[in-house]
Amino acid sequence: MSDHIVIERQDAVQIIRMNRPDKKNAITRAMYAEMASALAAGDADKAVRVHVFLGVPGAFSAGNDLADFMTIATGGEGGGEVWDFLLALARTEKPVVSGVDGIAVGIGTTINLHCDLTFATPRTVFRTPFVDLGLVPEAGSSLLAPQVLGRQGAFALLGLGEGFAAERALAAGLIYKVVAEDELEAATLAAARDIAAKPPEALKIARDLMRGDRSELFARIKVEGEHFRARLKSDEARAALVAFMTRKK
Ligand code: COA
Repeated sequence: MSDHIVIERQDAVQIIRMNRPDKKNAITRAMYAEMASALAAGDADKAVRVHVFLGVPGAFSAGNDLADFMTIATGGEGGGEVWDFLLALARTEKPVVSGVDGIAVGIGTTINLHCDLTFATPRTVFRTPFVDLGLVPEAGSSLLAPQVLGRQGAFALLGLGEGFAAERALAAGLIYKVVAEDELEAATLAAARDIAAKPPEALKIARDLMRGDRSELFARIKVEGEHFRARLKSDEARAALVAFMTRKK
């Protein structure tokens, strides 16, 4: 276990905190693996009724660690942990709540498409620069974003890579509430406790009905993943990754 993911239980609430502030919570393979295990363990544990994703002040997540992308782009192995995490996320049996402050890039945005409630602060910007990186949408976002945002909103997010600041994200239906920075965690955890206090069987049936058949989602995550891996080895992606790695601040 690294300290980049901190798992905490508060009664029936399982908190999964991304905690790599020096890299703006860029997610490494080890972090994906720990988050996948936590989701599976929480789902299997009757004492857990809700999962909560949190980040650190100013950074929910800057997305996949670009050095890990570079490893695959240059012929190395990897990616299984991402796949495990995405499936665990799409498969969750229990509600998922997120509290997002500041940077929410790539998977830092697309995680929230799987959440039942997302709280965000006014300074939060959701952004998915997949295409600018020579990549394609992931985490089932090519399926979920059009459902949530409509076709044109999804294209603005996933195709153009436009930033959705908190108020726009709220108006677009991407998030549940905008709350002040110093209230974010309290509001997120209060909602989680409210969820945990509901009759769990009825809530599970209601949530499953709202989610519908998830087989299309699993299939989409798989197809996106195949494109994603292939794209990582493309000239477009390599050039974008080299540009990030060698940028001058
Ligand atoms: N992977 C690896 N390292 C990352 C990272 C990522 N996705 N995002 C940020 N970092 C690192 C930076 O390299 C920097 O490390 P250093 O201090 O050792 O140089 C550190 O985190 C702080 O980032 P910095 O760029 O200085 O912070 P910022 O506030 O100026 O900008 C971002 C934050 C998120 C806008 C910018 O870091 C960025 O664009 N990151 C890439 C996001 C991305 O494309 N993610 C993949 C999506 S698919």
